Amino acid sequence: MSPFDPTRRELLKLTAATSGALATVRLLTGAPGTAAAQGTNAGPTRVDVALRVNGTEHRLTLDPRTTLLDALREHLQLTGSKKGCGLGQCGACTVLMDGKRVKSCLSLAALVEGRAITTIEGVAQGERLHPLQAAFIERDAFQCGYCTSGQIMAGVACIAEGHAGSVQEIRDWMSGNLCRCGAYDHIVAAIQDAARATDSPRRG
Ligand code: FES
Ligand code: FES
Repeated sequence: MSPFDPTRRELLKLTAATSGALATVRLLTGAPGTAAAQGTNAGPTRVDVALRVNGTEHRLTLDPRTTLLDALREHLQLTGSKKGCGLGQCGACTVLMDGKRVKSCLSLAALVEGRAITTIEGVAQGERLHPLQAAFIERDAFQCGYCTSGQIMAGVACIAEGHAGSVQEIRDWMSGNLCRCGAYDHIVAAIQDAARATDSPRRG
């Protein structure tokens, strides 16, 4: 037996010591134990959430960690809001909450109960497109379309806020919405058109 071959007794001691050390590390760091790592832990209690989306109330039972974006896409099948970065950096997930734009990947669904959520599916009036949707088509303001629903939701808010007075102002106030296809000039033109069509307030 080499000096590194432990006897059975030594091996048992070593295993006990290692398990104790691992348990201590888990206690100190909050790292998940074996059961959690294997998915046998029941996880956090689920919560009942009433979401008001596009004028309709939806009752859902969710993991409390569910983002508003995932609740919309995975539970309500409202897939117009897109998941780009999931980190609040691209704007693809933009929706309106009580009329103000928010990045739905950064909001927890359980915390927005009772708020009026508007998604891209809710901006048209029946068959009649919102003026900004029509302007996007008219101005050819999208290519792949992945950012488009977020751009439109942010643009709707930008116009309502009175921040569509000039090209530079629109660029500044739309800077949280990225377009990898580089359709920015067309997007700005569409917002200008829609702002004129809707008699947007001017705030400078
Ligand atoms: S997916 Fe929400 S900001 Fe990118
Ligand atoms: S149209 Fe492709 S990312 Fe904007």
